[in-house]
Formats: sequence, C-alpha cells, structure tokens
Amino acid sequence: MMTGLAGLIRPREARPTIGAVPVLAALPTPILVLDHGNILRSVNPAAEQFFDAGSNVLVGQNLAELIPSDSPIFGLVDSVRSTDASVSEYGLVLDTPRTGQRTITLQAAPIAELPGHIVLLLSEVSIAVKLDRQLTHRHAARSVTAMAAMLAHEVKNPLSGIRGAAQLLEDTVGPADRELTRLICDETDRICALLDRMDVFSDPHPMERAPVNIHEVLERVRKVAQNGFARTVRFVEEYDPSLPPVLGNRDRLVQVFLNLVKNAAEAVPEDGGEITLTTAYQHGIRLAVPGSESRVHLPLVVSVVDNGAGIPEDLRQHLFDPFVTTKRNGTGLGLALVAKIIGEHGGVIEFDSQPRRTQFRVMLPMVARDGAL
Ligand SMILES: Nc1ncnc2c1ncn2[C@@H]1O[C@H](COP(=O)(O)OP(=O)(O)OP(=O)(O)O)[C@@H](O)[C@H]1O
Ligand SMILES: [Mg+2]
Repeated sequence: MMTGLAGLIRPREARPTIGAVPVLAALPTPILVLDHGNILRSVNPAAEQFFDAGSNVLVGQNLAELIPSDSPIFGLVDSVRSTDASVSEYGLVLDTPRTGQRTITLQAAPIAELPGHIVLLLSEVSIAVKLDRQLTHRHAARSVTAMAAMLAHEVKNPLSGIRGAAQLLEDTVGPADRELTRLICDETDRICALLDRMDVFSDPHPMERAPVNIHEVLERVRKVAQNGFARTVRFVEEYDPSLPPVLGNRDRLVQVFLNLVKNAAEAVPEDGGEITLTTAYQHGIRLAVPGSESRVHLPLVVSVVDNGAGIPEDLRQHLFDPFVTTKRNGTGLGLALVAKIIGEHGGVIEFDSQPRRTQFRVMLPMVARDGAL
C-alpha cells in the first residue's frame, strides 16, 4: 500500500505537491512529504487539520520544529532512508503543543522518484483502535482467569463424585431408569470438558517458548481440520517458505490456529467453502509495549481467511470476550483463548470482516537473528 501511495506522488517537477494530487488531498489521513533534510515539502488538508496549521505555515518547516526531537519518529525516518524500505509503527505517542497527546500509527515510505524524500502517514484511528481493542482483550482474558481457576477447583471434584454415583446406580436400576443415569454421566462429562477448556486460562505456569516452525503448526492444524470438522472445506495455502521461526510455544500455537480454522470452517457455506492460510514476512511492524518505552517487532504474519458470511456487526466490539457466541453449542471461549495465547506471545491479533471474506491476522515475534530467545 505504501509503495502504491508513494507512487501516486509523481510530480512533473522535482517538487512533490500533494495538493496537485486530488486523491491524496481528499484522504482523511494526514500525509506529509519530507525532503532529504527533513523539511516538509508538502502536506494534505488532513495534515493541516492534524497540526492545526495551514500548509503555508507547515511547508518549509523542519520536522524538528513540529515534533519533539526525542520522538521515535526521527529514528523511523532515518531507518526508512537507510534501508529504502517502508516502516510502520503502531501505538506511537505523539505529544506536541499543536496536536496535544495522541496515539497514532505511523507509516513511512521512501519515494522512489525523489531520492531522500519520504512520505509519512499518521493514522489516528483504525489500526490504533484495533490494537487498543486487542489490548483490552487481554484484560478480558485475565478476568476470566480467576473465575476459571475457581470453577475448575470448586466444581470438578463434586462433579466426579456425582458421575461416580450415577455409574454405581446404573448397575442397580432397571432399563428405563438407566437412561437417566446415562444422562447424568453424559452431562457431567460435558461440564468437565468445558471446565478443562477453561483450565487453560488459569494455568499459572509461564509459557515456555522456543523456535517454532509455523508451517509445521499450520500443516498439523490443516490435517486435523480436514480429517474432522472441515472435511468438505477446500484449503488454500499461500506460504512464504523463507519465513524464519516464530518465538513461541508450539502446542499453544496449534490451539490458536485450530480455533481460528474451526471458526472459519463453521462460517463457510456448505458448498464451496474455502479457507486460505497464508504466512508472510512483514517488514517494519513494531508495537509499543504499554507502560514502557520498549517496542517489539512483530514481523511474522499468519492469516486465516474464510469465504463465510462475515462476523455479525453487533459482535465485533466484543468478539474476543469470553462467552460471546452465536452458536447453539458454542462456548464462546475460542477467541478469548486465542487472544490470551497471542497476548502471552507478545503478539497481536486483528480481524477484518466482510461478506465472503473474513480475515484473522496474527502478528508474531521471530527468534532474534543472533539465535537469542
Ligand atoms: N470466521 C468467522 N466468521 C464469522 N463469524 C465468526 C468467525 N469467527 C468467529 N465468529 C463469531 O465469533 C463468535 C465467537 O467465536 P469463539 O470462537 O470465541 O466462540 P464459538 O466459536 O462460538 O464457540 P467455541 O469456540 O467454543 O466453539 C462465534 O460464535 C461467531 O459468531
Ligand atoms: Mg470457536
């Protein structure tokens, strides 16, 4: 997308003027063009609004006059110049007298036609909001943790007593009543299975992480799915074979993608259901760690796309909360668990849903290049 946008700025002379490109002028996202000396060369109306100043004031100013010199934006701009590749950073806090404090997503890309020039996109909502939601999912998962621990402890023991008693009764009652003792056993089994599922939330052990081949994880998930709940679904795999290993926990990652693929399989039409699994290396995705100055790199992107009807509008806001379900036999714990596990990996999950195309994107950290975990 960034290359496309940069490509749109194709001035006849060597001066990039966004005003001359109606598409960029119309975009509600603030866009700035910097030259090799970080002087603003062009801004769109959204940027004027964002910085509360007209283009006559902004153009010609050095970026350092607009933004505090310790802002990570300068580092990003330098890195775009030195690598000649675009960079995105989520959750960047911008605090200037003109803008006040705002959390933005910054995308910066080199302009091929103008060496040293960089286009900056500052988006205040969309992705940043998604991430914010994602971070609140972690709280949701945490609040369910204590309850899960309590339930598992208080309910499971008496349940096994009830089941044992029903089994003993089974031998002494007549055939008509045996149906009732079976019912007791089946229902207690069902509750036990539910509690087992919730147990994962209360697991107090820190997750162990090691290099994981995500393709092996996805292969396993696909096999389980195709031999079980997704027999009639067509799978499309678009993998980047050069993807480095994920820094993660294999079993937990299997759980994550099994849940996502199961949801996808339950959403696709009976005829012509299709699930696409993709992996990709995305350069330059960084996420601010809440409450600290540090940033994590999340370059590995795994997505699960289905051609189902889409996620109902009224569900989206709370999709990752526990017990949110539209399914008759659903627990609504699948995505809560997914959010918890991804959170423990320091990763991010986001979704995008339209009829016939629902995508869940998981961004994960990789094993450091020097092999350190
Ligand atoms: N790919 C998808 N397409 C459409 N809706 C989805 C998709 N994934 C999730 N949903 C919606 O989100 C809800 C919550 O999903 P979640 O996995 O948390 O629970 P569930 O699937 O209902 O129950 P369980 O996972 O216990 O079987 C689902 O009931 C469904 O309405
Ligand atoms: Mg589910």
